[in-house]
Amino acid sequence: MSFKFDVEEVRRQFPACSLEIDGIPIAYLDGPGGTQVPHQVLNAITGYLINDNANEDGNFKAGLQARNIEASAREAAADFLGCEPEEIGFNCSSTQNCYNLAINLSKEFKPGDELIITEIDHRCNSAPWKSLERLGCIVKTVRLDTDTQQLDFQDFESKLSEKTKVVAINWASNALGTITDVKKFIDAAHRYGAITVVDAVHYAAHLPIDVKDIDTDALLCSPYKWFGPHMGVIYLKKEIIARLDFNNAKADDIKEGARKFHMGTPQYEQLCGIREAVNFIASLGEKYADEFIDELRGLDGRRKNIVAGMLAIDTYEAPLAEKLRKGLRRIEGVNVYGPAEGEPRTPTVVFTMDKYNPDFVTRIFGSKAINSWNGDFYAVEAIEAMGLSESGGVIRLGLAPYCTEADIDRVLSTVNSIAAGEYNSFGE
Ligand SMILES: Cc1ncc(COP(=O)(O)O)c(C=O)c1O
Repeated sequence: MSFKFDVEEVRRQFPACSLEIDGIPIAYLDGPGGTQVPHQVLNAITGYLINDNANEDGNFKAGLQARNIEASAREAAADFLGCEPEEIGFNCSSTQNCYNLAINLSKEFKPGDELIITEIDHRCNSAPWKSLERLGCIVKTVRLDTDTQQLDFQDFESKLSEKTKVVAINWASNALGTITDVKKFIDAAHRYGAITVVDAVHYAAHLPIDVKDIDTDALLCSPYKWFGPHMGVIYLKKEIIARLDFNNAKADDIKEGARKFHMGTPQYEQLCGIREAVNFIASLGEKYADEFIDELRGLDGRRKNIVAGMLAIDTYEAPLAEKLRKGLRRIEGVNVYGPAEGEPRTPTVVFTMDKYNPDFVTRIFGSKAINSWNGDFYAVEAIEAMGLSESGGVIRLGLAPYCTEADIDRVLSTVNSIAAGEYNSFGE
């Protein structure tokens, strides 16, 4: 397939892409920590605050409109994940959503019940379940195979039993880029009647999601990783929503559907931003849908365009990430992490340098207007298992659809210079 992605057209939609530091354009390789935001999202947020700012159900135009705003965000998020709008919940972050779910589910648990997390998890999807140890729940952790940098499925199967109540699993690692075959884990968990919770926060920025296909009971993602505002979106199967007695104000208007999951007044301006982040992805898809006719069979409307948009993003990002990994591997003293080439992975490139601490490297990047991250990114156990905690974790560069080949070249040339000792007196 000859796929031509118009990155300049994408960049024009992101005001941050025209920013410079000391005359150098900023290379936004910090996407796994949060992406930049297109005009469409910014305009929706400010537009709401200027024109429609009101709490819901007031007997005036903006007050009457507020519920429609929430409904439109729910519909957009449902199209993004492939579910019903009533199965979508919002809160301020995925961590908040996961704690909220854990606390509410724990009303069903008794001492000795078992919860399974994994060594590759972001703390978002492990700490809430660990917190239930105080109720006598037993938390088991699936091993990360540090050779393949993938989860050990056999270890997972050996931990499953009739006592397993929850399996919390990561779809894509924000620290290693590893993509896990969550469907296989979910099938196995369901054989024992466990509830499955998928952390798709990193995955959702790079590939289309179909919650019905993987058949998970719950899934977490955060729109600020895919061009939207700082919020968390949770998918909850209708049966789970119906079954649980959620902590909330129990007012008449929040007793039904995913509203039961939300605490307090909805963040209307952010909901406008989420809706438009989804519409932005769909607008990319509209342009590139013809490239993915086979993958889009059976889909229509906005859902079809969202899937096409995410496939276009993936098709653009993957070869750039490959070029970056290959270039880094050619530099002496550089170690690139993540699963073997050809194994499923996100375009998040993680590496260390033998002679230089990750914090030192990202400070040099920062001085060259290259935005990147270093450390463990709250995937503490994965970085520990890799034996990298003591040396400051890893350096992380993540691709987004507004990143360019020139960004990659700048990174490679900077790493070459660092490796050649040109920055040895940096910061002195
Ligand atoms: C894989 C993964 N899970 C969870 C989170 C936490 O998301 P939030 O900040 O919305 O709580 C992150 C954030 O970096 C992440 O990368």
